[in-house]
Formats: sequence, C-alpha cells, structure tokens
Amino acid sequence: MSRSGKVTVVGAGFYGSTTALRLAEYDIFNTVVLTDILEGKSEGLALDMNQSRAIEGFETKIVGATTTAEGAGYEATANSDVVVITAGLPRKPGMSRMDLIGVNAGIVRGVAENIAKHSPKAVIIVVSNPLDEMTALTQLATNFPHNQVMGQAGMLDTARFTNFVAEKLAVPVGSVKTLTLGSHGETMVPVPSHCTVNGKPLTSLLSEADIADLVERTRNGGAEVVALLKTGSAYYAPSAAAARMAKAVIEDSGEIMPVCAWVDGQYGIQGVYLGVEAKIGRSGIKEVVETKLTASEVDALKVAAEAVRAKQSDVKDL
Ligand code: LAC
Repeated sequence: MSRSGKVTVVGAGFYGSTTALRLAEYDIFNTVVLTDILEGKSEGLALDMNQSRAIEGFETKIVGATTTAEGAGYEATANSDVVVITAGLPRKPGMSRMDLIGVNAGIVRGVAENIAKHSPKAVIIVVSNPLDEMTALTQLATNFPHNQVMGQAGMLDTARFTNFVAEKLAVPVGSVKTLTLGSHGETMVPVPSHCTVNGKPLTSLLSEADIADLVERTRNGGAEVVALLKTGSAYYAPSAAAARMAKAVIEDSGEIMPVCAWVDGQYGIQGVYLGVEAKIGRSGIKEVVETKLTASEVDALKVAAEAVRAKQSDVKDL
C-alpha cells in the first residue's frame, strides 16, 4: 500500500473527528492532522485513533493540534495537500442552516486565512454551514483560485436521496442512482429525471406523489436528523461524503461527484458557488460537468443560483 500526502481536518467535533478517522482508515495518506480550539481535544482524539491502528490495520499517522483564532498551532497543518474545514457551530432543532451565517462566517474566515498562510497549495473542502456561503467566503478569505476551493453537500444530499429511494422500494442502495444539485438548503434541486433503479427510470417505478415525498424528505434530510439528535447535526453520512471527496483529490481520480463548485457559464449561470456535478482531482475541481437537464430543472437550478448569489455577496462583509 503506497501512502502519500497530508490532509488536515479543522474542527474536532463529531463531523471533524469522524472525517479524520475515515481518512486515516483509508490508509492512503501519510498523515491526517486534526485541529481544534479546545485545548487537548484533538490531541486526545488523535492518540485514541492511533491506538486503533493495530486493530484496524492501517498505518496513516494521526496528529492532533490545538489552534487559536489568532493562528497559533497552525504550523502542524503546514503544507497540507487537502484541508477539510468543519469549524463552526451546528444547527439546533428548529434552526435553518442560514441561521448560522453570522457566527460561522467569523470562525470560517479566520480558519481560511490561517490555512492559506500555511498551506498555499491545499485543495480546501468546506463543510461548515450555511454551506454554499461558507464555501464562497473561504475562497474570498484565501484568495485561492476557485478550482482550489469546493464545498461538500451534493454528495450528502444525493446519498440521502438514494437511501430513501432504496428503503421505499426495498432494493439495495447499490442499485439506486440519484442526483441532487442546487443549494444545500431551501433551494436544493433533487433531479428525479436522473434517478434510476437497476437502470430503470425512477419515474417508471414510483408515482409522482411518492417521488415528491422523497424529494421533500431529502431537502429536509439534515433537519430530520437535527430534530432527533437535539444537540447537534448529522455526521456519519456528511463525514463519509467529505472523506470521499478528499480521497478523490489526493488520488487525482477524476471522479464525477455532485459538489459545491464555482459555476461560471455552465447552464447559463455566471460566477457563483453552486451544487453541480464536477470532476475532482489533484487541482480540486478539474471541470464542472454540465449534465442534460429538463427545462424545469434548469429553471430550478437558476433559482437556486440567484438565492445563493444574494447571500454569497453578503458574506464578504461578515
Ligand atoms: C446536514 C448538515 C451537516 O445536512 O448540513 O446534515
């Protein structure tokens, strides 16, 4: 097994620590760095994760580091190839992701500036909420080329949609393909016309009303988990999504994934971070892949683009 590179996960909450462990268990990186502002938390988690290596059989080393908002401790992250930013607060029951914009903008901006200082070549994967806005803010704060900064949302929303379809039809998740585009929020655009089960169109297997229910459940997928947990938001599916994206980057896999990427011209949409399909590799977003959509799906994507554009232009002042 050949290992290479260094990935940093910022924020050692449930999302960050689960992402770090998934990345370490892939056994493809030399080092996984996990940081947090709570003194000792990431060091303790790293120690614990390293002790699991002998049982799970992986060699990737996990390093914990305490950081401060002023930038202390970031030396441990220096020259990372990939950085996953999970820093910020999660939702509480009843909150929308947008309710977090004020507080998380301050946190994410500081993190992004410190990362840019120590890892100018890193590909950054943002997962903090509200996702599309925090991705846009990270690009502004780092001044990195747009392809070097992306957000995680489509992978997660698509996985949720796939799971709901598989459960509804009592078929293996592996036989289901779904797609969601647009924002990670109100204007999420699940795309039933691209959904299949064993290659058959979903529209031939479920009624319009059933599909509409699954689409709505997907759109509220995060809130449904938050309402049950009461003290935080989802992290198993979100961390799986973020870790797969980081893997695609370090392996330069060229996989096409639904992610939050800079869209400039595709679908007739100019200059905004939005959920689309993109080819992922060592440079981050290699290419936004325009897929064939129905006229109403393109319209929904444009509505999503304008909704997130308005908020993304606010974040530069936050
Ligand atoms: C969710 C959060 C992580 O959708 O955005 O669960």
